[in-house]
Amino acid sequence: MEKIQSIFKNLIKCRTPQELIDEGSNSGLSKTLNVFDLIVLGIGAVVGTGIFTIIGSAIVGSSDGAGAGSAIVISMVLAAIASVFSALSYSEIASMIPVAGSAYTYTYATMGEFMAWMVGWILMLEYAIGNITVASAWTGYFVQLLKGFKHILPAFVVNCPLWLRNDYRTMYELCNKYGWDVHDKMPFINLPFGLEIPFAINIPAILIVLILTILLIKGIKESTKVATIMVGVNLFIILSFIIVGAFYVQPENWTPFAPNGIEGIFTGAFVIFFAYIGFDAISTTAEETKNPQRDLPIAILGTLIICTILYILAALVLTGVVPLNSIDTQAPLAHAMRFLGIHWYAGLISVGALCALTSVLLIYQLGTTRILFAMSRDNFLPKSLNAIHKKFKTPHILTWISGLVVIVCALFMDLNISAELCNFGTFTSFIIICIAVLILRKTEPNRERPFKVPFCPWFPILGILTCLSLMYCKFHARATSALYFIIWLIIGLVIYAAYSYRQKRLEEQEK
Ligand code: ALA
Repeated sequence: MEKIQSIFKNLIKCRTPQELIDEGSNSGLSKTLNVFDLIVLGIGAVVGTGIFTIIGSAIVGSSDGAGAGSAIVISMVLAAIASVFSALSYSEIASMIPVAGSAYTYTYATMGEFMAWMVGWILMLEYAIGNITVASAWTGYFVQLLKGFKHILPAFVVNCPLWLRNDYRTMYELCNKYGWDVHDKMPFINLPFGLEIPFAINIPAILIVLILTILLIKGIKESTKVATIMVGVNLFIILSFIIVGAFYVQPENWTPFAPNGIEGIFTGAFVIFFAYIGFDAISTTAEETKNPQRDLPIAILGTLIICTILYILAALVLTGVVPLNSIDTQAPLAHAMRFLGIHWYAGLISVGALCALTSVLLIYQLGTTRILFAMSRDNFLPKSLNAIHKKFKTPHILTWISGLVVIVCALFMDLNISAELCNFGTFTSFIIICIAVLILRKTEPNRERPFKVPFCPWFPILGILTCLSLMYCKFHARATSALYFIIWLIIGLVIYAAYSYRQKRLEEQEK
């Protein structure tokens, strides 16, 4: 009985906010980021696959659910509302405990050791697995761009075999869809005992992740410089799409406004939620921010407001320019320009999409590394992993690990599964962060809060309820991703029980 009591005590052992802040200030990471850098990081993390790709299926619908039609603008407001409660909670805690690790760190200060580990593990879904989705979408746009240069480039580059630009799940799906022979389309590796393994590799996705890994190791300031350029390009592309497209809008395309009624609007909100994921990545860089108390809340809320306005305007133009039944689901914005006969501009949009996806990749990998950094500093993972590079002052081993995880998983995970898993990870971290605000208001009532969630406890409670109901939708539909999510949780539990719990006790004995 005593043993069970002591295990339970260990599981709920919290670190005090002060302890976390003190440790964070000695991390060795250089404090170089200002509010502009943070908003660039935020927009870079948020604007990507959602607005350039997923908006199409949110409007038109898919085999999984009805589309919102022109009422996508209402879906976008709903998705933004779901995000804003969590954004406010993130702002309160990030300004109060400005240390690396995001929801992971905040959980450690509120719900104890076990929950902290689980949240860190779940955040890997949002950051690392989410990056697989973006890397796959990146390849799609890259191939589109190469096709635009078919007169200049050699044919083997433009028409490179499918198995060299897809993961093997996607290859199987393509073979099923078009009735192709798998042996024709994919090479097989022969193993002893007559075993054969089909092989496909997404080379462009792997190359872009490798390049970004090297860039991140060279330094965060350099990385944000590249992100600034990328964000500049993709904002220019979206703004010019809005301005140019506005001249071609035909208001009759907006009717019927909501062809699938409330159901379409809610399904659209669920789907387009992916477009809002990412603003929380800002809080993972708290230890590298010059003035985190002031800058973090401004950057988080600023990013959300800017993105919502851009999304709504782009959606109004898209649905106003192209009739509902002609909206493309692969590259909807580029297609809209082709629909208007402006082909060169469609090519330009592909360039913008590539920039957007690249900056999402960069920032998500940065997020993965910083969360792993905080977890290994806390002894959940081997401490040797968080070595800081002598010259570049970045956690190089963890940066390589986070890059390699994406590269390896991109071999066998497809875009849809990884996107849905990413959503599950995000909803969970949003819920945890809202709970953390409520707990800290009780346990640390006097700690300085440069930013406070208004209407507490109602706003955090609304945040929890919105995210729970969106997750429930997927569980109710018995989606494959819901099953994967449960398996992911079980694996996390096993690693904690087999390794991390013991490491934590050894750490205590050494003290
Ligand atoms: N919000 C990010 C995107 O749309 C994840 O790519």
